[in-house]
Amino acid sequence: MATRRLNLPEELVLMLLNEQTGYFYQVPGWSLNCAVIGAALADLSLQSRIDTDIESLFVLDPTETGDPVLDLCLKAISKDKTPHNARYWIERLAVHAEDIIDSTLDRLVKLEILKHHEGEFWTLAPATWHGYSQEHTASQLIKSRISDAIFSNTIPLPRDIIIVGLVNSCGLFHFIFEIDEKAEKRIEQICQMELIGRSIAAAVKDSIAVPLLQRPSFKKKIPSVPLLKILSNRHVWNGNIPAMLADFAKEYGSVFRINIPLTQPMTFLAGIDINRWVHRNGRQYLTSKKFYQGVENEYGGIGVLVSLDGSDHFTLRRALQRAYSVRKLESEMNSVFDMIRNHMKSHWKVGSHVQVYETSRKLSNAQIMPLLTSTETNDIFEDVMKWKNAVQMIHIVFNPPKFVTRLLFNTSRMKRGRKAVDDAVKRVQQNHTPEQRVGQPWELADETLSLYASDPQFFPEANLRFMLSSPMLASQYFSDLMGCAIYAMVTQPDLYAKIRSEADAIFSNGDPDPETLDLSDFDVTHRFVLECQRIYPVVYLIPRNVSNSWLVDDIELPVGEHVFIVMGAAHFMEEAFPEPFKFDIDRYLPPTNAHRSTSFAPVGLGTHMCLGVRWVVKHMAVNLLMIAHHFRLELSDPNFKFKFNAYSSLSVSKKLKIHIAERWKDFPA
Ligand code: HEM
Repeated sequence: MATRRLNLPEELVLMLLNEQTGYFYQVPGWSLNCAVIGAALADLSLQSRIDTDIESLFVLDPTETGDPVLDLCLKAISKDKTPHNARYWIERLAVHAEDIIDSTLDRLVKLEILKHHEGEFWTLAPATWHGYSQEHTASQLIKSRISDAIFSNTIPLPRDIIIVGLVNSCGLFHFIFEIDEKAEKRIEQICQMELIGRSIAAAVKDSIAVPLLQRPSFKKKIPSVPLLKILSNRHVWNGNIPAMLADFAKEYGSVFRINIPLTQPMTFLAGIDINRWVHRNGRQYLTSKKFYQGVENEYGGIGVLVSLDGSDHFTLRRALQRAYSVRKLESEMNSVFDMIRNHMKSHWKVGSHVQVYETSRKLSNAQIMPLLTSTETNDIFEDVMKWKNAVQMIHIVFNPPKFVTRLLFNTSRMKRGRKAVDDAVKRVQQNHTPEQRVGQPWELADETLSLYASDPQFFPEANLRFMLSSPMLASQYFSDLMGCAIYAMVTQPDLYAKIRSEADAIFSNGDPDPETLDLSDFDVTHRFVLECQRIYPVVYLIPRNVSNSWLVDDIELPVGEHVFIVMGAAHFMEEAFPEPFKFDIDRYLPPTNAHRSTSFAPVGLGTHMCLGVRWVVKHMAVNLLMIAHHFRLELSDPNFKFKFNAYSSLSVSKKLKIHIAERWKDFPA
């Protein structure tokens, strides 16, 4: 555990962290950036490296402090021989602020002060931190120091005066404490107590109000992609829509529009910068509520996980994360081995030719639904999926007038699908009476039903239908990826052989101990899965609405604009993945580690990023290992040309068949 004093940017970040939403109080990006740089400058000043007053800022001692964040700023200031004031430096250095915030968050996680959650959320770690004389978490300490300064008459420390000044310039005290008139006066008084704090806070305030260096924006119109361009694109005919959209992003820029007859004009955002930006800042400008509302209505829900934003979303995500965690999968790994074996034993007959699409669907759903809900639904899976895909396409893509929607949902196929959803939910509920659950492992359905029982206002009964059937959506995406991965394996015999050899080592003496089965035991298979996720981005876009107007590449996206964030487009961009159409599992070796960048986004970006992100990779690897251990598969038609089925998510074409050529290893009796 660390014992060093936190620097001012770190204390500021802790001050601004909102535990309810897992992110900062709603500080607009520019203000946050200015405040963080202000904190770094103030720290340099406290360490006598620079001096500043209202008019000027100059270097006293260019010796590095040993703190990378502070030294980055010190170096830049020392290099420039022209005198400038604090406001100039705040705005000049603001371009580094996002990196500084990222590295500050990383350091606070390493110090076990913050805990990072998938989806770019942070909360205070439960551990205490011994940086100061008393035992407090570092955040409690900074918040209680500032609260003491405001609500008592003690004389604050110089660093606390600086923090008060910075938080005040962002206008945030009202969100953090109950501020009455007396407290307001006291804050003003504290802000005047110290010269450095005063000048930095004033510079931050001025920069926030009227940035000196921000370039004027010449707003452009959103370019439209002509229909002919779409029809002549080399990827459209094999269904690789994300690769096609990547081509358009290269030609038209990160924002472009497509007008397809009978659909509303669709605005797409695609590219490497878009991925980075949405992951980091999307929460301030984008909402998922409006887009998913139609889908939610079809399920009869009111605020289900995918359609929530802000603190309610974060609270629900935290409540459910255990059920979707890789730990949960690992704790059930012995059953997973059995499920895969039992399914293959009864459905995979040597000598037969099977449709990859259907086989993957059945194998996936035979595992995911039981793992999350202890319920079998393979017999109704296809009906549920047909209904759910139609719901998504109609409400998210076409959005027709209400009467058309009603007509479309009145067909017998849709009625059958809706009934299948009801059946699935009924089965889950029947399997979750208290008697049925005695001695059973805790899973998603238990978590969901207990949330409803303990807080029906937060999690109403209306949401059970969506939540209890939603694992089938996960099954669908998982099976889409599985179909592609099976294709990639059978068409690349060298990789198939390597996966088989890892599998044989793992399963040679019966099932491995799940506790010790680590990604490093199947390094090739692991990287193979990652490359499949990249080259077959089965969910390649996420729909959103603009909630705060947003300037992207000089194009203003107004409030309410429907946008599709095409996170899978970056997968086909040379700058992010050299030779993007080459299947290359070495991209994921250090030092490249291509999967650690936001350009690699096979399961979403930002706050709604898939909660099963780690689960998917391990689970898929285990499936491929077991397939390779037991079976030799080959394409039924060796000349088959790969094509995606691009309806809803991407999956393999229904025409793809494999021949179950040989069983290499018998199943244990
Ligand atoms: C290859 C398989 C999968 C893919 C491609 C995938 C993809 C995604 C994507 C793109 C999202 C974000 C949707 C959005 O932002 O609007 C998402 C959300 C989600 N996924 Fe997955 N997923 C997969 C498998 C799974 C599995 C196996 C689980 C459960 C174990 C799971 C659980 C979830 C949950 C709970 C969310 C909602 C998160 C939220 O709204 O906060 N997914 N998934």
